Amino acid sequence: MSPRTGANGVQLKKFECVLCDMFSTSPSSDVICRRALDELTPRFHRLPPELCPREKQSLVDRARERWEGRGLEPGRPDGPVVVDGRPSPWPFDPATSLPQCGCVRGGGGAVGNVRSAERAWRKEAQLANLIRCVLALVPEGVRGVSSDSPRAFRIVDFAGGTGHLAVPLALLLPDCEVVCVDLKKRSLDLMHSRVDGMVVSESVVDHKVHCQSSTLRKSKRIPNLHSYHGTIQSYESDFDIGVSLHACGEASDWVLRKCLERRASWVVCSCCCGKLRRDASNPYVFQSTGANEKQVTYPQSKTFASLGGCDNKVHTITAEDFDEVAKVSDYSQLGDIRLPKNACRRAAKSLVEWDRLLFTKEATQQLEDATAILAKMDPWEASCKNDILIGWLSLDTNPFGNAKPVSDPSCDNDFQIALDHLFGDQSSPGKTGRDQNDWTAKEAHEIESQIDEWVRGNREDYDAILRFPTRMGSRLRKLIHYTAEIKGLRHWGEGKKESDKTVLVSNRRI
Ligand SMILES: C[S@@+](CC[C@H](N)C(=O)[O-])C[C@H]1O[C@@H](n2cnc3c(N)ncnc32)[C@H](O)[C@@H]1O
Repeated sequence: MSPRTGANGVQLKKFECVLCDMFSTSPSSDVICRRALDELTPRFHRLPPELCPREKQSLVDRARERWEGRGLEPGRPDGPVVVDGRPSPWPFDPATSLPQCGCVRGGGGAVGNVRSAERAWRKEAQLANLIRCVLALVPEGVRGVSSDSPRAFRIVDFAGGTGHLAVPLALLLPDCEVVCVDLKKRSLDLMHSRVDGMVVSESVVDHKVHCQSSTLRKSKRIPNLHSYHGTIQSYESDFDIGVSLHACGEASDWVLRKCLERRASWVVCSCCCGKLRRDASNPYVFQSTGANEKQVTYPQSKTFASLGGCDNKVHTITAEDFDEVAKVSDYSQLGDIRLPKNACRRAAKSLVEWDRLLFTKEATQQLEDATAILAKMDPWEASCKNDILIGWLSLDTNPFGNAKPVSDPSCDNDFQIALDHLFGDQSSPGKTGRDQNDWTAKEAHEIESQIDEWVRGNREDYDAILRFPTRMGSRLRKLIHYTAEIKGLRHWGEGKKESDKTVLVSNRRI
């Protein structure tokens, strides 16, 4: 691959060249292809709405009736995990709504492997996002009263580890059966010990032996909670919702395949996309079974594979191209998550998820009411691996009720920064000047801090307006608009002459 330069004249890295080729009229051309731009740019939607507080409260009340009296310890007394003044978006009061085993951290002590407050905050934020999606996908009848269907509504938490997600789901949805699937017996043992108070032997478990005898176990204290010891691929029962949080590499693709095969809805938040490369292995599978064979080939979607460039004839995105994109999409600089720095790596991650989304759309195209969307966790800081694929096959499981999913402009903006870096003006017609969005991390941090500080000082005042000084220049004004947009605050420009122009931000939400 010959070296090439991006819009700002800086030599592009290898993966950036691959991204460039995906959107160009032909390999190694810098001319953007409109069709590829239209079809390959990942589009994100907002998460399904949260349940209303009254409905949440009734879920919690019903759950409490069941777990109280079963010997489960009440929730942790120290309330929600707070980091840097931000309480976690955990939707239930941890002190009263769930027993300790349903929270990330138990009273005073760490539970599972989440030991630091920062990690606990992130884990709770991740779980809150996934629980929100699952609750929206469970039909109202099942959420409210026992349904009279032949089998219980079943939710499977694939690669569920120690049950961080499965346990609160089982507690909140006592009329549903929740199964935690994992190939690590030790993790499932920990879940049972947390919930059922069983003592788990500290001796090393021979996973290779255990994996061959996959078993289903029922919790003693939470009767609708089960564990299944085995691989995702080997889980053969029917279910209604498949959920997975950070199933490594192609394990997430197995979850999608299982859901499609069983005609179930899905909520899948992947991780370790670098492991999708042909020469990488899933460490969990490798350690447990000694196996290291890839079963999924990438790109998975025909549409994605054939969309690269369009010089009248299609040039395909090869497995080799995908390896490059997958490798850099393993983005872990949480501090930069909203900054232009690393936007191309975030774009690479979005493209990996876009390929997954297109794959699920292709697999369900015969089903009239099937819908698949891509969303991001709220807040993004919950994890660098914050993309969530959500899919449902019938109207009565639409997590948006009767409405259509709403698109999320903040994700488009983020992807646009990467395109601007690669192609400059061409990627957004009508724009003047190159690299308008290429702010430094310091600039982005300063503007964000100013807005945050102002919001903290004016929390209750919805008429308050933050007026930035004039003469900041169009580049920084754009940064203010961008930052306010991703924080969900109203923002607008004022002033006609360049020297009068400024940006105003209001405390009112968009
Ligand atoms: C990063 S952990 C996530 C655990 C849990 N979902 C959570 O968020 O706390 C990944 C888990 O995936 C499991 N895993 C990876 N590949 C798997 C497979 N093919 N089948 C079943 N479990 C798998 C691992 O054993 C591990 O527990």
